[in-house]
Amino acid sequence: MSNSTHLDRLLDRIAARTARVGIIGLGYVGLPLAVEFARQGFDVTGFDVDPSKASMINAGKSYIPDVPEADLAAAVRAGKLTATADMTRLAGMDAIDICVPTPLRKTKDPDLSYVVKAVEAVAATLVAGQLVILESTTYPGTTDEVVQPMLEAKGLKADSGFFLAFSPERVDPGNAQFHTKNIPKIVGGVGKASTRAACALYATSVDHVVPVSSTRVAEMVKLLENTFRAVNIGLVNEIALMCHKMDINVWEVIDAAKTKPFGFMAFYPGPGLGGHCIPIDPFYLSWKARQSGFEARFIELAGQVNGAMPEYVVERITDALNSVKKPVNGSRIHLFGVAYKRDVNDMRESPALDIMELLAKRGAAISYTDPYVPTLSHGGHTCQSLDFDKALAADFDCAVVATDHAVFDYAAISRLPLVVDTRNALKDIASSGIFRL
Ligand SMILES: NC(=O)c1ccc[n+]([C@@H]2O[C@H](COP(=O)([O-])OP(=O)(O)OC[C@H]3O[C@@H](n4cnc5c(N)ncnc54)[C@H](O)[C@@H]3O)[C@@H](O)[C@H]2O)c1
Repeated sequence: MSNSTHLDRLLDRIAARTARVGIIGLGYVGLPLAVEFARQGFDVTGFDVDPSKASMINAGKSYIPDVPEADLAAAVRAGKLTATADMTRLAGMDAIDICVPTPLRKTKDPDLSYVVKAVEAVAATLVAGQLVILESTTYPGTTDEVVQPMLEAKGLKADSGFFLAFSPERVDPGNAQFHTKNIPKIVGGVGKASTRAACALYATSVDHVVPVSSTRVAEMVKLLENTFRAVNIGLVNEIALMCHKMDINVWEVIDAAKTKPFGFMAFYPGPGLGGHCIPIDPFYLSWKARQSGFEARFIELAGQVNGAMPEYVVERITDALNSVKKPVNGSRIHLFGVAYKRDVNDMRESPALDIMELLAKRGAAISYTDPYVPTLSHGGHTCQSLDFDKALAADFDCAVVATDHAVFDYAAISRLPLVVDTRNALKDIASSGIFRL
């Protein structure tokens, strides 16, 4: 088949919704995407190395809070969505989206092992005319330097024998307003045909598709967005430390500053960065910049400031206990919320884990309440979330609002004798027992 016929055939199949879509990696990113493609009428196959995820999906069960079980079950019942751990079935796909993790190594270098494994599986079954899209956040150059050669080693040329693009995922777990469908999608192919094919696929399921000139631009867009957040959060965290020294309420300052209708965007201080994106992605960029002899100073500095926030929270807890003549050592300290942000169950990189570890090292007895996180492993032992009402009645030496889940009764928390509020959840409540960040 000629190259243009490959493209035409793929575009026709996409337009007719007869293209079979494969999603590799069924986590926070891959599962919502799979359900959205299925909703648009495609036959979707999810691939995950974790067979329990495939089983849950095939049983119509959702394990991602942003994916309503009813939607997932409807797609499975309609025969539009199925999941498997059998990677050989990739051969039957017309389009394949790769959504696997991209963590850091201990040294803060990129760990591309999941991407490499997934691409090996795609390469093993690559079929002429397939469209392969990488969605995992990664450094500029991954698609054309790492993925493309692995796939071309099979003999087909990218942008003609098969199509290859990068399209960063921008999903914001827990965000009720913006989700897969209404978040604009950036798409950059290794050539014009690949960009066209990938744009056509996303245009079926995403309201607004934004083509860019290359995979590297698309990769860099995502890192700019996440670095922008990390640096601005670092800045506001530093302002919070300054304000504390000068006895100024940083939250009031931000609320007033954001009345400016241009040139200011509100970011908020907190107990530290968490999740799979903001604490990690900027280091993909600084690593790649270093390969080109460039030191990404803002990223490093923001990393230092943000990374020190759990230590600062412990300092505020120490201040609070000190005010009632108690040491951290031997005190019973209870955290309200441990997930990395409000209304999600995601514990990855959660600063609450650091805070718990730092307090435990100082001899405190730690417990927590988080309806989204029933059990938690930290410091080598597993503990269970305490019922909210029991926590209120438990007479702890100090309570800490580490994550401001909407379900908590903050009026009740504010009546506890000693509370450290890292999220401004007790904003309008004045009490000498409340210590703010
Ligand atoms: N979580 C977010 O908010 C978010 C937002 C935007 C972008 N991203 C990026 O998207 C990517 C995926 O993140 P996530 O949060 O969905 O991760 P996740 O850990 O929730 O899901 C990844 C899934 O991939 C599976 N997996 C790992 N290796 C595999 C392989 N070789 N083959 C098949 N399946 C495999 C895992 O079992 C897991 O189910 C990352 O690069 C992340 O940076 C995440």
